[in-house]
Formats: sequence, structure tokens, C-alpha cells
Amino acid sequence: MRGDGAVSPSRKCGNVHKPMVFLSSENVMLLTMVTSKENNFRGFRATYSQIPLNTTCGGQLTGLSGDITSPFFPAFYPPKTTCVWNIQVPKGHFIKLQFTDFSLADPAEGKAGCTKDYVEVNDQRSKESSVITVESTKMTVRFQSDDSNVDSGFEAQYEAFVPANPCPGRFHCDNHQCVNLTLQCDGWEDCTDRSDENNCTCQESQFLCGNGRCKPSFWRCDGVDDCEDGSDEEHCGQCSAGQFRCHNDRCIPDNQTCDGTNDCSDGSDEAQCKEGVEAKCSAQTYRCSSGVCISKVNPECDGEADCQDASDEANCECGTRPFQSSAVVGGEISQVGEWPWQVSLHVRGMGHVCGASVLNDGWLLTAAHCVQDDDNTRFSRVDLWEAMLGLHIQGHDSEWTVRRHLKRIIPHPSFDPKTYANDLALMELQKPVALNQNIWPICLPSPAHQFHAGESAWITGWGTTREGGFKAAILQKAEVRVVNQTVCNTLMEGQITDGMLCAGFLKGGVDACQGDSGGPLSITAAAGGRVFQAGVVSWGDGCARKNRPGVYVRVTHHRAWIKEHTGL
Ligand code: ARG
Repeated sequence: MRGDGAVSPSRKCGNVHKPMVFLSSENVMLLTMVTSKENNFRGFRATYSQIPLNTTCGGQLTGLSGDITSPFFPAFYPPKTTCVWNIQVPKGHFIKLQFTDFSLADPAEGKAGCTKDYVEVNDQRSKESSVITVESTKMTVRFQSDDSNVDSGFEAQYEAFVPANPCPGRFHCDNHQCVNLTLQCDGWEDCTDRSDENNCTCQESQFLCGNGRCKPSFWRCDGVDDCEDGSDEEHCGQCSAGQFRCHNDRCIPDNQTCDGTNDCSDGSDEAQCKEGVEAKCSAQTYRCSSGVCISKVNPECDGEADCQDASDEANCECGTRPFQSSAVVGGEISQVGEWPWQVSLHVRGMGHVCGASVLNDGWLLTAAHCVQDDDNTRFSRVDLWEAMLGLHIQGHDSEWTVRRHLKRIIPHPSFDPKTYANDLALMELQKPVALNQNIWPICLPSPAHQFHAGESAWITGWGTTREGGFKAAILQKAEVRVVNQTVCNTLMEGQITDGMLCAGFLKGGVDACQGDSGGPLSITAAAGGRVFQAGVVSWGDGCARKNRPGVYVRVTHHRAWIKEHTGL
């Protein structure tokens, strides 16, 4: 999962393939191995060697540009260290210093802060302010660590510039950063102070926001407030008086709403009706057990019996958090019991490999690509897997955690490893689990259930916290938004089928990532507050990249297949 949190580089668990190197910050390194009560694994092998402590740092820098880093960056810097860099540039130039990384132990707290480890630029203690300029030909950068905790330090680049032309050939941000000219007014914020997006004249392919910013036109009416003043979501298919605006921006006469006919063709004219109106059955109508269809959108488990036989309210134990209030405050690490339907799938000798969701006491839903054999591992074999339910921290089972072997794996027969079409699989547990406060099923949406573009959704998992990074130890969560299907298909060059659903932010920055696959995309229903599984984490182009939303299996599309095998 990619949000903003990072895992501590000094704790490793599960299965890490890359060779890892750790550097001590002095002549002591402490290594602790912790194992759980259950299961034996192969373990690890490591070699160590001593390297001379050579903390020469600082010095005289006279080039027009250069890099400086704290000693051993990105490994931890040593305690009790002072480095001083004297930068001197030719006459007629000023100096700009830009930090690209900044992690010092015990950073500034309050005004009197920065007393422990700090970086000083011309006697001013800096606080990760990304760009510092001095109007002089000299700059002194001083790094100081005390005798207590250490961290990975900092990395910075300095550059000499001519005051009259501080960014030759590039755009000059208000904070003196330079960015490529092409990035100016492109809709993305590239200067850390966003000044590259101020006072823009929008191009033809852009939309002018109320606040003067320009955003790509295709961001208009996608349900996300990209302008940050709401203007890109206004007047989306304006309708005249006496008309109703459908979710798909069509206009229909007001009196055609709640009449049992799906006039909008997306069902939105029948969505907010007081009671379910019987309607002609279609892909947009909910079918009651009796076979009668009703026009209300998403009537299942909303707390109101809409079908005459009340079948829309049957089997609605799902999608609640037994021992958690549903409101959760921000942050990246989830709370215990917040996602009781989240499962961690372990493979013998590899630890966590994929996510899954709890459908009931005996069935899990995951991604088909998680259970495909590769050259080294027969992932399709039932006996390889162990499902961890009610788990919060990898390697730390609680009294509510249940481990289960599998009886059966049913991958979708039409899964296509090239296109990732039908990327879902069912797993039957060897024996049912007793549901508890940390193990609870998520609701499966009916085939007609609608998830609208712009709607908020949550992704959860123990996947890597950045592209190519390490897996998370604690279950992570991130909020994303459902992305318009047509927009997504355009962005993803036509790879999005009806059985897929996109979610994320076109700006990038938040996404699922490697190891999150198979996990649920959870959406809380507006009526009734129950959590429905809108998607299964399936694929993406990298993680959290601009204009590359995450792609999920559209659960509604595969509802019949799930029912066929599980009865659910
Ligand atoms: N396929 C990946 C996995 O096996 C997860 C892909 C999700 N990627 C994304 N950018 N949303 O874990």
C-alpha cells in the first residue's frame, strides 16, 4: 500500500528476496531474531564485516553545483558527529540548496527545538524546508548529531545561480526551486509551493478552475474535486428547472423519477426513492428472491425492507465492525478490528504473499493471479497456503487471530494472465472459523449495486509501502476514489474491461501495491452504513503513479460466479 507512511528499515519479517545491507552507526550492532510459537521456517543467513570508521565529512565546495549528504546516507549517520561544508561560488552568483531527503532524530519541537541533531545553513537551523537560497557567494552548511538516537540523515543539492536569471531554461518557482518549463501550468503541482500552477492561461486541452488553476479537461465531472474549489465538478450536465440530473449527467423530467422505470439508464432516477418500486428487470434493477425486481438503487442491507419478501434485508450480518466505531480518523496504520474482513494469505516459506477477504465463516475471496504457478512455486496447490484471519501485525497473532489451511482453491476458469481479465479466486477454508470481533464478513454487492465515480473507497493490506519497497508489518489503509470507467480506460490505453473497476487518484500518490493483491476495495454504503466489497486488488502500472489508477476486479460483475460456487 502506498500512502505516506514508510516501514522502519531496521525491522524485517516475512520473506525478503533482495540482499540487504545494514550499516551500524558506531562499533556496535544489535541484531534480534523473534519467532512466533507456530511453524518452522528456514530462517536467514547473514555475514558481517568490520569497516573502518571513516567519518570524514564536510569540506570546501567550489563547483557550480554539487551534492551533500550526511555521513553514510541513506544508512544511519553516527552520533556525536559534526560536518561543515563551505560552499563558495563565483562572483555574481547566489546559492540555492535543495533538500531531497531529511530524516534527523528528534526533530524540532517548538521554537527551542533542533537541539539534538540538526542542519544549519548560515547559522539558521533548517527544518526540511525544501529550498534555501542565500543572496551571497558563500554558504555554510553544518550538520551536527548528539550522542543519542540517530536516523538516516539528509541529502541535498546546491546550485549557483545568477540572480537575474535564477533558472536558465527552466521555470522559477516562488520558493526558488527550478522545474522543467513543460511542467508549468500542466495541472500537476511540481514546485513544492505549487507556484508553477498559479496565474496560468489554460491550454485547449485544459479546464479553467474558478481559482485560476488549469487542470486536464478530462478531470471535469469525474466526481473528484481536482481544482480544490469544486469548480471542475460544477455544471456537469446542467439540467433545466423541472428536470432531474442523472448520475451520468443526462437530464430527465422530474416526474420520471421514482416511477419504476430506469429512465436515466444508470438507475440514478430511481435511487433516492422512499420505497422500492417494482420495475422491469434489467441490469440496473435489484432482483428480490421472489424474482420481482425493484428500481431502488442499492437496496440491499440498507436497513429498509424494499422487497415484499424483505429478501433485500436477508443475510445482512456482514460489513459491520463488531467492536469498532465506524468512524476512523486519518493516518495510514489501521486500528485493530477496523478491517475484520481482511485476510493475509501466507505461503509456506514465504510469509505474506497476498490479501483476501472474508465472505463468511468458510469462504474467502482473493485474486486468481495469486494462485497461479510460476517456475519456482506451485501456488495453485492447496497445501502451500495458510490463511490468517483477524491478523493485525504480521508475526504477531492475537487471541482473535485464526490460522486456517485450505480445503479448495477455485480460480476463475477464464482468468487471463495476459490481460488479467477475471482475476478472482475463491478459497474454501479447511474448517469454518468462529467469527469474532476481528474476523467478520464483508457484504457482497448484488449485481445491480452501483459504485459511482468519485465515491470514497478504502484499500487495505500488508503490501509494499512504495513501488519496489518493503512489505508492511502492520495492516495499512488508504482512502482512494472510484475513477470513471471511461476515463480509466483511456488512461490505461484500453486495457480496462467491464469486469474491472479503477480507483485511486489521477494525481497519483495513493494506491495499492505489490502484496496487496487479492485484498478488498471496501466501500461504505451511504444508506445503512454497511461495508461492501466493490473490488479485489488486481493490477496497476507501477504503484501510485500519476494518471495510473489501481485496477480492481469489479465484484458486481462476477457476482453470479461467486454465488454458483459458494451459495453466497
Ligand atoms: N499485482 C499486485 C500484487 O500481486 C498488486 C497490484 C496492485 N497495484 C496497484 N498499483 N494498484 O500484489
